[in-house]
Amino acid sequence: MLSYKVLALALLSYSAQAVAAAKPPATLYTEEPCQGETFEVAADNKCVLLPENLQKHINGVKVPEDVVCDFYSDEKCDEPLLIGVEDPGICKFSEWEIENKTVSVHCYDADAIYDDK
Ligand SMILES: *[C@@H]1O[C@H](CO)[C@@H](O)[C@H](O)[C@H]1NC(C)=O
Repeated sequence: MLSYKVLALALLSYSAQAVAAAKPPATLYTEEPCQGETFEVAADNKCVLLPENLQKHINGVKVPEDVVCDFYSDEKCDEPLLIGVEDPGICKFSEWEIENKTVSVHCYDADAIYDDK
């Protein structure tokens, strides 16, 4: 969820972007609650297609501070399942009825200003 806090941080940190360190990646999990196989998604504002063996087998995510992740049921981040997942993440996708549905993921730095979003 895009909060006012996130917006304020984004504005405040705008001038510092050139030297800002990259945020750590989010970690996906194949089993609840955040167990099983893992897969890391960089917070670099790109659509990441999951490896074939993990597609439709993701059931949890841990999201670092100031990182936001969106989950999609198609291969190109077009069909949203759940948008705006923030720190600390969600370890039970079944509670959101998105268990075993994720195919592609998009994570980004909540503080960064991106040209093409
Ligand atoms: C996801 O699918 C696997 C394999 O079909 C199944 O064992 C598991 O219970 C499913 N997970 C959830 C949270 O529904």
